[in-house]
Amino acid sequence: MLFEDKVALVTAAGAGIGRSIAVKLAAEGARVVVSDVDDTAGAETVALIVDAGGSAVYQSANVADDAQVRALVARAVDEYGGLDLAVNNAGLGAAPKPLQDISDAEWQRTIDVTLTGTFQSMRAELAHMTAQGHGAIVNIASIAGLQSTSQLSPYGASKHGVVSLTQSAAAENAASGIRINAVAPGPIITAALASLPEESRRRYADEVPMKRLGDPEDIAEAASFLLSDAASFITGVTLPVDGGSLVR
Ligand SMILES: NC(=O)c1ccc[n+]([C@@H]2O[C@H](COP(=O)([O-])OP(=O)(O)OC[C@H]3O[C@@H](n4cnc5c(N)ncnc54)[C@H](O)[C@@H]3O)[C@@H](O)[C@H]2O)c1
Repeated sequence: MLFEDKVALVTAAGAGIGRSIAVKLAAEGARVVVSDVDDTAGAETVALIVDAGGSAVYQSANVADDAQVRALVARAVDEYGGLDLAVNNAGLGAAPKPLQDISDAEWQRTIDVTLTGTFQSMRAELAHMTAQGHGAIVNIASIAGLQSTSQLSPYGASKHGVVSLTQSAAAENAASGIRINAVAPGPIITAALASLPEESRRRYADEVPMKRLGDPEDIAEAASFLLSDAASFITGVTLPVDGGSLVR
């Protein structure tokens, strides 16, 4: 198993990509602190892990609230004695619209969760990992952080910011035994895409060179690799997992 005796936390792990990552890390032996703002959904992820023979606890945390983020890291340390692996997955999109029509509230909501939430999560995790002298972090970015994003400017700006935070922190911590990378998903079947009519899903899938939408497990596999010792000489990268979308 890849993560025997490791302690991991995953934000926004009550559904979709975060849940899939939490389940994968636990299946590889990690003890996982599952976090979300939806306590019922978070408890369901914990139950999935425990029912499969793994170890997990739930800690509620809105990543836009710094005190809750610090409490999340403290929970990992109190519950399991440390923090080896962290996946900063929380991120929010918004309804597509031109930049000039975006309200302050819409801008702020996306930035607070997607960009500031990732920054606050990394800051709290790195404080602990620096003291302990090792660790690995994966941020969930998006292909929207690596290309232009017409109609999604707050989300695109946030995800470009997540890529940049990944690079800055990787450079700052490379000599300290702490690796920081990101995964940039293309279109993945989670709640938003799953709720679309079959025909719209088909259209999205047809735009992907591999002619399919991604599964949350595709992202979990990539995150797991980047967290593992198999990636021990990799830091500061953003790995697209997008069925070829960026090269079409
Ligand atoms: N699904 C895709 O196609 C896709 C593509 C690229 C990037 N991403 C990124 O992947 C990540 C996960 O997306 P998903 O599609 O799995 O989402 P999802 O909608 O399936 O799940 C999101 C989870 O985040 C939780 N959440 C919402 N606000 C939160 C907050 N402030 N703090 C903590 N948790 C919060 C929700 O309760 C929910 O459980 C996001 O960062 C998203 O931007 C997704």
